[in-house]
Amino acid sequence: MCGIVGYVGPRSAREVVVGGLRRLEYRGYDSAGVAIVADGRIDLRKSAGKLANLEAVLAEHPVAETGTGIGHTRWATHGAPNDVNAHPHLSASSRVAVVHNGIIENFAALRAELQAEGITFHSETDTEVAGQLLGREVGRGATLIEAMRTVVGRLEGAFTLVAVDAQEPGRVVAARRNSPLVVGLGDTENFVASDVAAFIEHTREALELGQDQIVEITADSVSVTDFAGNDAPTRPYHVDWDLSAAEKGGYDWFMRKEIHEQPQAVADTLLGRYTPAGALKLDEIRIDEAELRSIEKIVIIAAGTSFYAGMVAKYAIEHWCRVACEVELASEFRYRDPIVGKGTLVVAISQSGETADTLQAIRHAREQGSKVLAICNTNGSTIPRESDAVIYTHAGPEIGVASTKGFTTQLAACYLLGLYLAQVKGTKFGDEIAAIMADLEGVPDKIQRLLDDSQVILDLANRLTDRRSILFLGRHVGYPAALEGALKLKELAYLHAEGFAAGELKHGPIALIEPGLPVFVVVPPKGRDMLHDKVVSNIQEVRARGARTIVLAEEDDTSVADYADVLIPLPKVMTILQPLLAIIPLQLFACEIATALGHDVDQPRNLAKSVTVE
Ligand code: AGP
Repeated sequence: MCGIVGYVGPRSAREVVVGGLRRLEYRGYDSAGVAIVADGRIDLRKSAGKLANLEAVLAEHPVAETGTGIGHTRWATHGAPNDVNAHPHLSASSRVAVVHNGIIENFAALRAELQAEGITFHSETDTEVAGQLLGREVGRGATLIEAMRTVVGRLEGAFTLVAVDAQEPGRVVAARRNSPLVVGLGDTENFVASDVAAFIEHTREALELGQDQIVEITADSVSVTDFAGNDAPTRPYHVDWDLSAAEKGGYDWFMRKEIHEQPQAVADTLLGRYTPAGALKLDEIRIDEAELRSIEKIVIIAAGTSFYAGMVAKYAIEHWCRVACEVELASEFRYRDPIVGKGTLVVAISQSGETADTLQAIRHAREQGSKVLAICNTNGSTIPRESDAVIYTHAGPEIGVASTKGFTTQLAACYLLGLYLAQVKGTKFGDEIAAIMADLEGVPDKIQRLLDDSQVILDLANRLTDRRSILFLGRHVGYPAALEGALKLKELAYLHAEGFAAGELKHGPIALIEPGLPVFVVVPPKGRDMLHDKVVSNIQEVRARGARTIVLAEEDDTSVADYADVLIPLPKVMTILQPLLAIIPLQLFACEIATALGHDVDQPRNLAKSVTVE
């Protein structure tokens, strides 16, 4: 998720674009750059780090003050966050500059095609491939919009591309597929941007673009076509949001926005990692298959929410790969003198990539001779840098301190890892992996359904604001989902909340049950195993003692209706994948009850987004 701005008009494009990037910095902040069209050339400046670094570069090396320009603030997916990989990217002729948000799945093949024609690449990014393709087309005599039409027909994946041509001043051309892009309609000036926050200080009149559309803006015109060049329908609208709301996409809190970004975040994390030929493709793994086959034990290390993602991963990895898998709290790991070594694969899960407990733990593991694979959302952060391999999640920046899309994208990455190991070890046939991937690829739409149909959970939250304690129960992968649901409530509502393995109730926790106590229960799908029925009997046990049961169960599971004071239906999905869905109502519940209590949902008391001290 990156921030993109394009401008054509009478004002300084540099000033308008940089100002717009500042409003979009929450979308990505590991590097930034601008490209300004002037006198038949492109003035391009870019820098790793925060936008302030770019502004310093611009102060030292000013660009022309013309009215045509584009800019980008990056959240790295392909390629480390450094100066070279920062956007914009130039074509070989330096005639075309392009910025991009998304993932071009087939960039490696396109890169090879261009290299075979003698094109030299300077960055590791998929974006530069688009820039070189555009440069090749305009070099063959195409206009920029003609070039864009040709190039988007070659790309697979999700992308928003915005480009300028040094020989076409006064014109910006953009194309979108699956990634956001909106047009700002000004008076003798026009804008394109990732979202309206970039331009609402200049205009509140906007144009929403649809899928597979190309837009060309000049100071006085906006034309929208489909990828084939036919006029395309657009929806003009007036932006009512203030700037703060615009930065949150109209939501009141970043966390609520990030909960609703999860369908896209999970889809982006899966994108391009399972080939049409039916094979997992995890390029960043960089541990050879023979070594992976020789792994005797996997130890997952993490903290907080990431630890609960690791608990889910354990069930998946052991079930699919038949290799022993332990899950360890990072803060405990190195102090217990763990048995790890060459035959151990350590998997470090961290959204920020900077958690000190996890970082110290992987350093210890590496000293013992273990290979370390990081699952991380922050490209170029310390933990992946100090690991042997990485699987990046593509959630985009997570601003809310309480992790939501960070968790679900970690789950997606863990499932991909488990399936990849099963593929390498041969413990799952290709058709079995295909069936699981088909279910997994259907999850984003099912998350969306839960988000669209959330009124029951929101009403419940507003009824329970006076509670001082709420319990969460689950079995198997429902147990870590219960733990994560409890953690969300602790962090956000400052309530006592506790998750238990449902089978543990009779070993003590059932003493906590008293009349009126709210108890959430995550019920696994009905299947041949006894798991489902045992959880249903746990619900009966707590209900018999007066608990108010809030039951999350598959949408056609009639066996629980009699024991549920509130029933939250979950779309069907295979047991192992159910946490991806069960956690959504629990996130919404915690967020709603916290806002009802008047808490700062984005920055809860006592908490930091990244715990960089042990
Ligand atoms: C999650 O809501 C918390 N903010 C916290 O538990 C977090 O998951 C934990 O600190 C680990 O952070 P990391 O994923 O960045 O390593």
